[in-house]
Amino acid sequence: MPTDIERRVGNLLNSSQKAAAGNESDATSSQGGKHGSLGGKMVKPASMLETDAAKEKQSIELKQKQDKLKASSSVKEMQSFREKLPAFKMRTEFLKAVEENQVLVISGETGCGKTTQLPQYILEEGISSLRGAHYNIVCTQPRRISAISVAARIASERGESLGETVGYQIRLEALRSAQTRLLFCTTGVLLRQLVQDPDLTGVSHLVVDEIHERGMNEDFLLIILRDLLPRRPNMRLILMSATINADLFSKYFRNAPTIHIPGLTFPVSEFYLEDVLEKTHYEIQELDSFQGNSRQRRREQYSKKDPITELFEEVDIGSQYKNYSASTRLSLEAWSGSQLDLGLVEAAIEYICRHEREGAVLVFLTGWDEISKLLEQIKGNKLLGDQSKFLVLPLHGSMPTINQREIFDRPPPNKRKIVLATNIAESSITIDDVVYVVDCGKAKETSYDALNKLACLLPSWVSKASAHQRRGRAGRLQPGVCYRLYPKIIHDSMLQYQLPEILRTPLQELCLHIKSLQLGAVGSFLSKALQPPDPLAVENAIELLKTIGALDDKEELTPLGRHLCTLPVDPNIGKLLLMGCVFQCLSPALTIAAALAHRDPFVLPIDRKREADAAKRSFAGDSCSDHIALAKAFEGYKEAKCNRNERAFCWEYFLSPVTLRMMEDMRDQFLNLLSDIGFVDKSRGVSAYNQYSHDMEMVSAILCAGLYPNVVQCKRRGKRTAFFTKEVGKVDIHPASVNAGVHLFPLPYMVYSERVKTTSIYVRDSTNISDYALLLFGGNLVASKNGEGIEMLRGYLHFSASKSVLDLIQKLRGELDKLLSKK
Ligand code: CDP
Ligand code: MG
Repeated sequence: MPTDIERRVGNLLNSSQKAAAGNESDATSSQGGKHGSLGGKMVKPASMLETDAAKEKQSIELKQKQDKLKASSSVKEMQSFREKLPAFKMRTEFLKAVEENQVLVISGETGCGKTTQLPQYILEEGISSLRGAHYNIVCTQPRRISAISVAARIASERGESLGETVGYQIRLEALRSAQTRLLFCTTGVLLRQLVQDPDLTGVSHLVVDEIHERGMNEDFLLIILRDLLPRRPNMRLILMSATINADLFSKYFRNAPTIHIPGLTFPVSEFYLEDVLEKTHYEIQELDSFQGNSRQRRREQYSKKDPITELFEEVDIGSQYKNYSASTRLSLEAWSGSQLDLGLVEAAIEYICRHEREGAVLVFLTGWDEISKLLEQIKGNKLLGDQSKFLVLPLHGSMPTINQREIFDRPPPNKRKIVLATNIAESSITIDDVVYVVDCGKAKETSYDALNKLACLLPSWVSKASAHQRRGRAGRLQPGVCYRLYPKIIHDSMLQYQLPEILRTPLQELCLHIKSLQLGAVGSFLSKALQPPDPLAVENAIELLKTIGALDDKEELTPLGRHLCTLPVDPNIGKLLLMGCVFQCLSPALTIAAALAHRDPFVLPIDRKREADAAKRSFAGDSCSDHIALAKAFEGYKEAKCNRNERAFCWEYFLSPVTLRMMEDMRDQFLNLLSDIGFVDKSRGVSAYNQYSHDMEMVSAILCAGLYPNVVQCKRRGKRTAFFTKEVGKVDIHPASVNAGVHLFPLPYMVYSERVKTTSIYVRDSTNISDYALLLFGGNLVASKNGEGIEMLRGYLHFSASKSVLDLIQKLRGELDKLLSKK
């Protein structure tokens, strides 16, 4: 007698159900392995029937396994938790909508179960209805850390190990197998997958999460998907957003239906700066930057940039806040809103720990810098008392992937968990036991001034939507409290929603991507975006890519450009890494690239600036280079680490151990990337790539390759040097640079990492380079009219070198191009 399952197989083989499962393509099971492709290899099966039979068998196995696991007590326990989530009430409606519509937009408050539940419902339903083997659900996350944590969570809800039915794949790291049916990956990984599989043929359901954040990758992906959907009629697209601006996305996809999941959160009371000051008796200190700016000057400097600060300053604080005590009023007046006062954050934490009942504290800061400083500060805080009563944890998007479990786990009794986070904890990561939120109100945001080609990463006020999200984090399991470290008036004038990233960042990495995906002319492609970027910004990006040699004159990818596409970093940093390999000074290239991509490890204590400067200079030696100082400092750190005295070393040389550790991790990541694309052969050992790592001239030359077109010409003015760039004319060397205050330089040019505008235009982190380095690695060369001098085509920099030198240099450059195209 046939068993129930056998009967169902019989039915299935004859049924038309297969078509509905999204298997219009010949998608076979996904590939396992470390860097397997997302949707699996597209091999035409020898016999469709055979494959179908194999798939049915696999579907049955999946169902048997799921049924067995469902009976286990841990899964039952999880199940009762899951059924309490608001998403559960919508399960049937959601699954029906997925079945009936190609595109679906979901909105719902953070924590309602969108990420962990909805893709899981699709999976469960697919497996239960014996369609499991045909399913390949992919869910994108904007950040690595959330891809991993969500996948791990779902695996444990299902009672499986991570990497079985549920897996993840992030840059350079994956845990998945042939059984994997639900895969979490970063949006970047999916975008790269599109190079090999432009139709995402192996994917049955694609879930794009956190679209409300309006990240550049997500906005980019949506353009591609809108074009792709007609080619994949059976693929399902589900867009998920934490805010209720679902309409915008629905319209973009021809009025796709939307489902809103009503939230279940506890009330959160809120306090603003004025209340916090009253409670803590904290008096805000005048925060003078190391340049010794007066408060007035600082106001001038910031008020131009920040309309909200301006607004705040126009208000008569005295009358607005007359009910507050004198010290509070004084403090409020000192509050300029331009810099975050970590003392204030600490005071708020201290207040909570001393006066409020138990519960975890989640602190929103703007970046790694403040997280690491505050971490140290709290560890040394005497008022907090017994340190064993606290568990202080950092949470940052580029954190190494270990140690993350601690953030979600309940701390032992009598121990208070304090999480210091960036806006990553705003919507993609839910820490359930948070009862108190301390919000600085800012996030680091890039802004791009297309006219001046000036990009800055500066802390700026978050939107009302973000502030609301942050506040909501406190009310997950019980009523909570949110301490906002800014006055109410600032909150009232915040933007409703943040500007999408695509409108406020340089577009070179994106343009490179568009090119590698062969999506046609960049400008017309991007004009199809939800909110298209400024054409000038597009033009600048193309121009830069041509200048660094990633695109040729016809805007096609060059061999260098093709390599840069495979490196998920800014094209300039990518070029630095590639040149480091080719010219065998890999170690400094890795260090400098890590610092450029993350941040530099030198700390600048306001009170000991002189000593800190001297320490940095001691690393630079006579190189006239901040970058070389950095590489040397890192070497020193590694050596100190071998001798187990890295803490003392960092203390002595004003280095941040936390940043250095992060850099170590990034160096490893970069090395893996380079080995992945064949530029480093690990079996040869890294020393083979470091022949010239101590050759200053070589290192400066590859820095020129990586940082071009950020060039400054050094012109002698009597006993001093003046500095000029082609774009903005005269600039100054940043006071924190080892080159600040140097009167004369041995070499005629400088390359720099970044230009910042404060009281004047400064170039940050610079390296003095020779004209030959510039000729070899800088922009295009042309002979001037008389054939004598050499001109840099786009740099407008003039050299007096002869025609034969030009010929030689062009030949050398040609050799380099050949080398790159051979790889
Ligand atoms: O995506 P959304 O913000 O709607 O919620 P979610 O990430 O699916 O989280 C739903 C619930 O699962 C949260 O309230 C957390 O309690 C829980 N969760 C967890 O305990 N551990 C995780 N790693 C992720 C979620
Ligand atoms: Mg989520």
